[in-house]
Amino acid sequence: MGEFKGRFASFTVLAFFLSFNILLLVHGQLLPIVSDHGGNISQIKIYIVHVLKPESSNLLSAEDLENWHKSFLPNTTLDTGEPRLLFSYKEAISGFAARLTPEEVRDMEKMDGFLRANPSRTLHLQTTYTHEFLNLSTLFGVWSTSNSFYGERIIIGVLDTGIHMPHPSFDDTGMPPRPAGWNVSCYLQTPCNDKVIGVQSFKLGNKTILATDIDQGHGTHVAGIAAGNFVNDAEVLNEAPGRAAGMAPKAFISVYKVCWKDIGCESSGVLAGIDKAIQDGVHILQMSFGLPYPNVPISLDGDDVAIATYSAMQKGIFPCTAAGNSGPDPETLSHAAPWDMVVGATTTDRRIRATVTLGNGTQFHGESAYQPNMVTDKFLPLVFPGSNGRYRQLYCLNNSLNGIDVKDKIVMCEVGALDNIKKGEVIRNAGGAGMILMNGGKAGYTTFSEAHHLPVSHVSYKDAIQIKDYIISNSTPTAKITFGGTIFDIRPSPALAYFSSRGPVKYNGNIVKPDVTAPGVNILSAWPLEVGPFPSGLKIKTFNFASGTSMATPHVSGIVALIMSKLKNDNKRQWSTSEIQSALITTADTFDIDGKPIFDEATMNANADILQRGAGQVNVMNAMDPGLVYNIEQDDYVAYLCGIFSNNSQDVQIFTKNNTQSCTRSISGEQLNYPSIGIQMASRLANSTISRTVTNVGDAREIYNATFIEPPFVRIFLSQYQLRFTRLEQQITYSITFTTNGSHPGSGVIGQGELSWVSNKHNVTSPIYIAF
Ligand SMILES: *[C@@H]1O[C@H](CO)[C@@H](O)[C@H](O)[C@H]1NC(C)=O
Ligand SMILES: *[C@@H]1O[C@H](CO)[C@@H](O)[C@H](O)[C@H]1NC(C)=O
Ligand SMILES: *[C@@H]1O[C@H](CO)[C@@H](O)[C@H](O)[C@H]1NC(C)=O
Ligand SMILES: *[C@@H]1O[C@H](CO)[C@@H](O)[C@H](O)[C@H]1NC(C)=O
Ligand SMILES: *[C@@H]1O[C@H](CO)[C@@H](O)[C@H](O)[C@H]1NC(C)=O
Ligand SMILES: *[C@@H]1O[C@H](CO)[C@@H](O)[C@H](O)[C@H]1NC(C)=O
Ligand SMILES: *[C@@H]1O[C@H](CO)[C@@H](O)[C@H](O)[C@H]1NC(C)=O
Ligand SMILES: *[C@@H]1O[C@H](CO)[C@@H](O)[C@H](O)[C@H]1NC(C)=O
Ligand SMILES: *[C@@H]1O[C@H](CO)[C@@H](O)[C@H](O)[C@H]1NC(C)=O
Ligand SMILES: *[C@@H]1O[C@H](CO)[C@@H](O)[C@H](O)[C@H]1NC(C)=O
Ligand SMILES: *[C@@H]1O[C@H](CO)[C@@H](O)[C@H](O)[C@H]1NC(C)=O
Ligand SMILES: *[C@@H]1O[C@H](CO)[C@@H](O)[C@H](O)[C@H]1NC(C)=O
Repeated sequence: MGEFKGRFASFTVLAFFLSFNILLLVHGQLLPIVSDHGGNISQIKIYIVHVLKPESSNLLSAEDLENWHKSFLPNTTLDTGEPRLLFSYKEAISGFAARLTPEEVRDMEKMDGFLRANPSRTLHLQTTYTHEFLNLSTLFGVWSTSNSFYGERIIIGVLDTGIHMPHPSFDDTGMPPRPAGWNVSCYLQTPCNDKVIGVQSFKLGNKTILATDIDQGHGTHVAGIAAGNFVNDAEVLNEAPGRAAGMAPKAFISVYKVCWKDIGCESSGVLAGIDKAIQDGVHILQMSFGLPYPNVPISLDGDDVAIATYSAMQKGIFPCTAAGNSGPDPETLSHAAPWDMVVGATTTDRRIRATVTLGNGTQFHGESAYQPNMVTDKFLPLVFPGSNGRYRQLYCLNNSLNGIDVKDKIVMCEVGALDNIKKGEVIRNAGGAGMILMNGGKAGYTTFSEAHHLPVSHVSYKDAIQIKDYIISNSTPTAKITFGGTIFDIRPSPALAYFSSRGPVKYNGNIVKPDVTAPGVNILSAWPLEVGPFPSGLKIKTFNFASGTSMATPHVSGIVALIMSKLKNDNKRQWSTSEIQSALITTADTFDIDGKPIFDEATMNANADILQRGAGQVNVMNAMDPGLVYNIEQDDYVAYLCGIFSNNSQDVQIFTKNNTQSCTRSISGEQLNYPSIGIQMASRLANSTISRTVTNVGDAREIYNATFIEPPFVRIFLSQYQLRFTRLEQQITYSITFTTNGSHPGSGVIGQGELSWVSNKHNVTSPIYIAF
């Protein structure tokens, strides 16, 4: 089951999920020679090594820093002549990436200045319309009314598979000149322009590789969602036509290609990209990659991305990460550090309709972007090769239809184990006329409008059950697929996508993750390659639908650019990254567009809870003007890390890169001034008191009253029930006491509630999570 799940998650959601692992990489590169000294060379791996900074490191040249790092290595080259040192980091971490055997790492552990070595991991990559849905471009939307300046003057660092520069989404028409002091060239690239102001690549220390995105498309799509320029007449195979633009169409993009078709998003390159982005001075790190379940991080100091983003956060750079696509099971999140914004994925109310009509007349509405003009509208025989329970035929894998008569028939296949579009290819090659793509149980109601190569309808699990019933109870089952084009106003929406990874996280001190959700199903954005039945390769102006928390994350990156841009253009104080997180979290919507709780598409009839959707769907309008924000000072993060690591200052130094860091104060995760609240209540008599401090960024004089929803079994008492502000930037600290009502639902149960501070203008809501 575990094996099935992993494949299921990585192949269904994103075709471009990369499936290579580090062992493959090492074995591919090095012959399995056994050396007589230094251990077994076939066990050479890439390690991320964290070390103390050399004295007065700020004054050191890059060469001196590299020499300090090399001093930890047994020697500089492997037998094969390859250099051991891949990257020497300056900003992201204090340390380097190198090729070493486990034995050599053990020797290194004894050296002065060594802190920790993590084996490199392979992280996986995980919209004309979405800004309407998020209220950006409507008549009353954020773009037109609240002077968001479209993200002007903000630089989004996109760490991904590169970019397809010729695409009109990256045209620099209407862009302001590059920021003063920007000093990044577009390395071995057609010249950058005033939209894409940097394109660099990071791969195993090789400095001579292009950062074009001609083989994957993921980076192009993500960059387009975050900050694509306006493009008229965008469509996918004529569906979802409209004017395309990213969330922040005037923000700058700086590209860091750290994900590769052959080696995936390998840690050493990812850290090198973050390292360079910090040096370049980007404002936002857009990162749609993460470890898939079951390889999700299990400790904060085992998460090299979190160690690197800590440095970014300290410099005011906002780290925005994808929750992961390993849902709907719990404990599947790819990221969970408090300073990493973690974004889950929801649907919009748009579908590209492909309807299945069974021979008995019953209809099921599914989806497909490819909508051929069918000349005939007649019923065809329906076959289900997987009805025998055989794995290969259930998923319509390559060659699985040999010996089965599918000619001119409609073939039923279950989602999973192979990319959906490729399943269609298998059927087309075997002479089939069409495909009904059926969700399995876990995929629930989430369907994709993909650019298939033959007539297809992707249907929900509920519909799949009925279609299977029909085929079992009929001796000559038939069906037809007809196309309904682009449909809006589908309900419920937004709804949580089944694949969106979910909490809880056991290693971050009960900090609630994911933080928020954003649209991530069937998102239209720029694409390098032609799509549809007989694609002809690279194209200038192609768009495509893609789904994943990869697509949700750049929506939030773009919104952060709008917030930063507005503060800059209004000459306001720039908020800290935690204050921006607070603005997004405390204003998110827990209700859908009909005012009902956000539905979880993985289930037949349940709402998404706080560990599944976090605070809820980002609300751009409100996030631009949150009223109050919860700030986290650098000292608070240090105290939090001291709490997480039981006052072990060496562990804390890995994050702060401060050689003299010691633990003089320690707080629990519950006490961190986070905008959401997570509390452990282990027993019937448990109680706890936490404090929170809010900063007034609304009107100078504003009065907030408390309202709250108590989680079941829990009573809430506040130190004060009203907050009266008389000036901007004023801070007020209040405390909250949680007690049980005398009973306990049993350990492992979760409780949820919320605390809202409500004024005449603002509603500042903290979701509350109780771990019983
Ligand atoms: C470096 O060390 C490794 C392992 O100790 C050894 O196999 C290799 O030959 C050394 N390389 C050089 C150039 O000495
Ligand atoms: C070297 O390591 C490889 C991979 O771990 C293993 O298969 C092989 O047996 C090892 N050889 C020796 C001599 O230990
Ligand atoms: C969009 O903004 C308008 C005007 O502010 C508001 O009436 C409407 O409810 C908003 N829609 C959503 C989905 O937030
Ligand atoms: C810009 O980069 C060039 C080449 O890397 C370097 O020589 C120069 O000093 C840099 N200028 C600034 C202002 O950082
Ligand atoms: C670096 O990449 C280029 C282009 O792919 C390749 O030709 C070259 O051999 C690589 N160099 C090394 C040291 O791997
Ligand atoms: C399926 O078969 C085709 C042609 O035989 C081949 O090109 C393709 O790579 C195969 N796909 C997989 C997933 O094995
Ligand atoms: C067609 O068959 C399906 C599956 O057996 C069943 O649910 C549905 O009610 C049938 N429709 C009609 C009109 O009989
Ligand atoms: C404030 O927002 C929360 C979360 O969306 C909601 O549950 C609550 O009803 C709102 N309160 C008011 C007074 O609008
Ligand atoms: C960490 O140190 C602080 C201050 O020295 C102390 O109050 C706290 O109890 C210690 N925490 C742990 C987990 O040891
Ligand atoms: C490093 O840590 C020490 C001790 O906690 C502290 O006094 C000092 O200010 C820190 N240095 C920096 C640069 O934060
Ligand atoms: C909270 O717990 C402590 C000890 O566990 C107890 O002394 C105190 O009375 C409790 N407070 C409330 C309000 O239940
Ligand atoms: C807050 O409560 C006071 C009375 O307790 C009331 O007069 C006032 O209208 C309330 N303000 C809001 C925004 O609900």
